[in-house]
Amino acid sequence: MKLFDNQNLKEYNTFGMEVYARQFLAMDAADETSDVIARFLHENPYYILGGGSNTLFTKNFDGTIVHPAFGGIERMEKKDGKVLLRVAAGEPWENLIQYCIRRQLYGIENLTAIPGLVGSAPVQNIGAYGVEVKDTVWKVEGFVISTGLPFSLSNAECRFGYRNSIFKQTLKNDCLITYVWFQLSENPHFTLSYQGLTKALQERELPLTLRNVSDCVRKIRDAKLPDPKIVGNGGSFFQNPIVPAEKHNELTKTYPDLVAYDAPDGQKKLSAGQLIEKAGWKGKQVGNAGTWKNQALVLVNYGGATPQEVLDVAETIIKDVKMMFDVTLEMEINRI
Ligand code: EPU
Repeated sequence: MKLFDNQNLKEYNTFGMEVYARQFLAMDAADETSDVIARFLHENPYYILGGGSNTLFTKNFDGTIVHPAFGGIERMEKKDGKVLLRVAAGEPWENLIQYCIRRQLYGIENLTAIPGLVGSAPVQNIGAYGVEVKDTVWKVEGFVISTGLPFSLSNAECRFGYRNSIFKQTLKNDCLITYVWFQLSENPHFTLSYQGLTKALQERELPLTLRNVSDCVRKIRDAKLPDPKIVGNGGSFFQNPIVPAEKHNELTKTYPDLVAYDAPDGQKKLSAGQLIEKAGWKGKQVGNAGTWKNQALVLVNYGGATPQEVLDVAETIIKDVKMMFDVTLEMEINRI
């Protein structure tokens, strides 16, 4: 492991916030975990930081940041006609996508170009274009920090939900994920429920292959979402709100074009981006922070924004959306 004092985190968060951590610990191997927990994480504030693409640092961090920097993709045995991969937490998500495309493994191609590391993917059950990572996660291995004991949780035990899992609930801030196992298919099958994706494939008259689907997803993302290397951002800042069917019905009387998807228990999931746009916030800038011109759900650092500027924009958006629709937006991003 490597230990640094007073580490600038600018390169470790896609919002590009210039904040400092008292101590920064980069883990080189999963088998260092017990040692790291015993030596550094007891009676000391800590935060496990993957790729920093879903974290907004709101101030300097007076504790230890643990960054899993160990990667690796192992092909394990086949199970029920599926290929099992055991992937280390520090492997960049996009490397796994490319690995699967090269080896013709189907299941996660719609999740192309999501920034971040593999270990973070199950925490918020990353999802895009009709696929969520829970559809392919077989199990998750790691350590419970408070006890120092290893865990291995099956897909069901991870209690995945929309942008949710046990790692954001009972194990919140109390686990260090070391490996994620994926169950992928060698038989061609695609998820084409997202209209924008089927349309893009048809328009370009491309045959249905892993590479083509992945390329189309990348193009759609590039058109809507800012590249964090150029414009600091943390992807969707809010979750899409889930409301009772009656509330949705009532809103459609005033806003007949309201986008809504079916959610569990007969509820409806609205599009936070659309609500924010209708509230007049798309592409708006206040000081150095604001929302993205092509996707209002993404808050951005237009250059040199302070955490407070971003939070002020977020709070005003929440207030305006509440006033207009009587819907409360919940932040999706981790604020530290
Ligand atoms: N919309 C607007 N205005 C906007 C943004 C969106 O009217 O400014 C409308 C769109 O026209 C569309 C609908 O809202 O009809 C949905 O928009 P989009 O397809 O862009 O998806 P989203 O619901 O806004 C979610 C995920 C994204 C993921 C996309 C694609 C959440 C919080 N976000 O966004 O995930 O890429 O679907 O599947 O669920 C992320 O989590 O960081 C992320 C980018």
